[in-house]
Amino acid sequence: MEKEKPSRQLRERLDSLEEAERHWILGRETDDPLRYAFESKRLVHPFIPGNMLPEPETRESWRKLMKTQWMPEGSKRSAYIHIPFCQTKCLYCGFFQNFGDQLLEDDYIRCLVEDLRLSGKEPLVYSGPFHAVYIGGGTPSILSADNIRRLMRAVRESLPLANDCEITFEARFHEFTREKIDACLEEGVNRFSLGVQSFDTDVRRRIGRVESQEQILDRLAYIHGMDQAAVIIDLMFGMPGQSMDIWGRDLSTMAQSDLDGGDLYQLNVFNKGPLKRAIDQGSLPAPSPTSEQAAMFEAGVATLRSKGFQRLSVCHWTQSTRERNLYNFFAKSGAVTVPFGAGAAGKGFGHTFMLNRDIHEYIKEIDQGNKPLLFLMETHEDGRIFNEIVSQMDRGRLNLTWFRLKHDLDLPTILEPVFSAWVDRGLAEWNGEFLDLALAGQFWYVNLTQAILDCLLMLKHDEKPVLPVAGVSAQG
Ligand SMILES: C[S@@+](CC[C@H](N)C(=O)[O-])C[C@H]1O[C@@H](n2cnc3c(N)ncnc32)[C@H](O)[C@@H]1O
Ligand code: SF4
Repeated sequence: MEKEKPSRQLRERLDSLEEAERHWILGRETDDPLRYAFESKRLVHPFIPGNMLPEPETRESWRKLMKTQWMPEGSKRSAYIHIPFCQTKCLYCGFFQNFGDQLLEDDYIRCLVEDLRLSGKEPLVYSGPFHAVYIGGGTPSILSADNIRRLMRAVRESLPLANDCEITFEARFHEFTREKIDACLEEGVNRFSLGVQSFDTDVRRRIGRVESQEQILDRLAYIHGMDQAAVIIDLMFGMPGQSMDIWGRDLSTMAQSDLDGGDLYQLNVFNKGPLKRAIDQGSLPAPSPTSEQAAMFEAGVATLRSKGFQRLSVCHWTQSTRERNLYNFFAKSGAVTVPFGAGAAGKGFGHTFMLNRDIHEYIKEIDQGNKPLLFLMETHEDGRIFNEIVSQMDRGRLNLTWFRLKHDLDLPTILEPVFSAWVDRGLAEWNGEFLDLALAGQFWYVNLTQAILDCLLMLKHDEKPVLPVAGVSAQG
């Protein structure tokens, strides 16, 4: 990152933008920034640019990386293991890859175990501890109890897990039988992340979920009663037919359910996705407009605070000492993540990696003794700074002194026009040491984070930024 640039330079760059583009950076002037500071959510996640390596270099770069000894220098690392199957396809979801099939699942787990075993022989993997393992999807809970055991044994045999390693298993309720829950707990899972979305049976079924509220509460009580692992749920707000009253009941039920924590996610509607099609065809009611989603966000913060929950990030809440949220915290801050499985993503050492999403290609590559790489991307040269910005904004507060001491980067000087506008517009508070997101800034934190990245890139490359705006907003 170039050293300190005067705020005048950024002011000039901002003046050269079209008004609509400037609004994506500064927000709009309005009496109600929570609802109206932006037209919509710009992207699902902030976007950090990088350079795709040409294919011939991909394998060689991966090989070199795996031969490196792990030099932690105080940082932690994770493994991500992907299960690309679901029993049903939920209308809102962009994560679906394959329907479950027992024969294919058995073959896939055989290959995943081999993927872990082969990587476990590499210096990068065996030369230091892993602090978080995330088994995500798709739906890991679709796996048979035997396959859960096979996978978990391979994880423990192939990865040197730290004694306090967080091991998360992502699940939905549909197929998560007691036998499977017991298999997870017996094999060392210590955290469940469960997709509830809404406790309201009608809202759930409308978007493709299966169980009733009673079935969910019964299963949650069983898992909680085992008292062996952190239990976290995901809720979404703004779904079709989910009124403010229903959302209020969702929050109260969550607060009464003896959970260790949960995420409250704003619904993203993908422009070409099945949910959008169903709404456009009139077979589903429209989801709440962004302004109402903002009010739901506000209600979520107020309710969970009043019930004694604490906040670990803008979306993530805890009410127990069991929940640490390590994997998500490491992933956001750019820590090394080693990927396993078809469609798994990883990062570290200035690279982002993606494994082949095609399950048959994945199986073929593993059978030939290869890591099934789809691509390697070199992260932008300031990727570490960008990741840290994303991570801190995700927690609602930028530590400005930290950037000065660690990266010789004077954000208050460089970004003064932006920070001042956000303070004027009710999105943030700012003193010499910290930029704190106000409630409105927390709701719009993806837009604000992307705006910071855009400004830094604009100054660095001395050109107009490509302002990414994806079609993922809520309606209205
Ligand atoms: C990787 S998904 C998979 C979860 C798991 N397969 C399930 O069905 O419960 C993790 C979480 O992302 C959230 N999510 C998925 N699609 C979303 C969308 N379109 N908008 C907001 N959140 C979404 C949901 O809360 C979901 O539980
Ligand atoms: S929400 Fe979960 S179960 Fe539903 S399609 Fe997405 S990944 Fe599969």
